[in-house]
Amino acid sequence: MWLLTAGALLAVLGAGSTQLVFNVVDLVEKNACNETVILPCIVTNLKENNDSSMHVSWKRQGQVLFSFNGPEQRIYRHESVPSANFLSKSDLSKGIASLRLKNAEATDGNYSCEVTELNREGETKFELRTRMERQFDLVQSIVIAALLVFIIVLCWTQLGVVAFKCETVRKKKKHITIPCSIFTVIAVVAVVLFIQDGSISMNQVGLAFTVLPAGMLMVLQYSIFKLILDDLTHKGYALIAFQTAGYIVAVIGFALSVSACPSILLSVVIAGLVVMAVADLLALVYVYSCK
Ligand SMILES: *[C@@H]1O[C@H](CO)[C@@H](O)[C@H](O)[C@H]1NC(C)=O
Ligand SMILES: *[C@@H]1O[C@H](CO)[C@@H](O)[C@H](O)[C@H]1NC(C)=O
Ligand SMILES: *[C@@H]1O[C@H](CO)[C@@H](O)[C@H](O)[C@H]1NC(C)=O
Repeated sequence: MWLLTAGALLAVLGAGSTQLVFNVVDLVEKNACNETVILPCIVTNLKENNDSSMHVSWKRQGQVLFSFNGPEQRIYRHESVPSANFLSKSDLSKGIASLRLKNAEATDGNYSCEVTELNREGETKFELRTRMERQFDLVQSIVIAALLVFIIVLCWTQLGVVAFKCETVRKKKKHITIPCSIFTVIAVVAVVLFIQDGSISMNQVGLAFTVLPAGMLMVLQYSIFKLILDDLTHKGYALIAFQTAGYIVAVIGFALSVSACPSILLSVVIAGLVVMAVADLLALVYVYSCK
């Protein structure tokens, strides 16, 4: 009753329009890098500045997602948005009814935010859209995949050379075929996960399996050298050191890339893989000179 009277009184006082005014946005964009998204709803002409006299109702495609009943201080959340909450409950009385929720729960669509303060009310609407943006640049990702394939081809070529040219080790080559095969299988799965459009976490797992198992290559290289040479020469050690340096750069690049979204540091991974590929190429030449 009191609310009604106060409302009527305000209206009578002719406090201007009975409409609430919003900061208007027509389109809100999110992308895969947003962990949480903020749906804006800002009223600029509240009078009471007391959330006890407010009602808020958020809808998506006409269906109520989230609502707030001021007099009872009660919040309702639809089951599809368990993480939804006011950006800041204490700022609600200042007119900020913006909603924060997890990216995955904020599906694309038309949203509306309706606010009532005593007898004044208003609504703002916008469309939420997902921009197709990857954490990892697609072109750089493809370059990485191509480098990995190149490194694998070099790995098998070395094995072929060792098998056909270096008579003495033909029987022992099984030892090195197995790691090379494992590496190839891992790489194929990794590249698929890494390149595909989809969840960021899958791309990250893909990148991890693209970069980290490459560490096996150094061990593999060492075993190949051991097989064909009685004594590992300075040149052999230098090649392995060179390869290891490339690997370290690639791993650092991996750590930097995964921790940033969107990531611009895949080039560090590329640099590391290039060094590894060059080292592999030199090792191939070196192995080719065996007797
Ligand atoms: C998503 O993140 C970008 C950049 O961090 C930000 O500008 C944008 O407002 C966010 N989108 C939403 C809906 O929160
Ligand atoms: C807000 O309104 C309620 C009920 O009318 C009242 O009890 C409360 O003291 C008010 N709060 C502020 C900060 O004015
Ligand atoms: C949202 O509304 C706009 C304009 O009314 C319409 O063109 C668009 O298709 C709607 N989007 C969805 C996802 O319903």
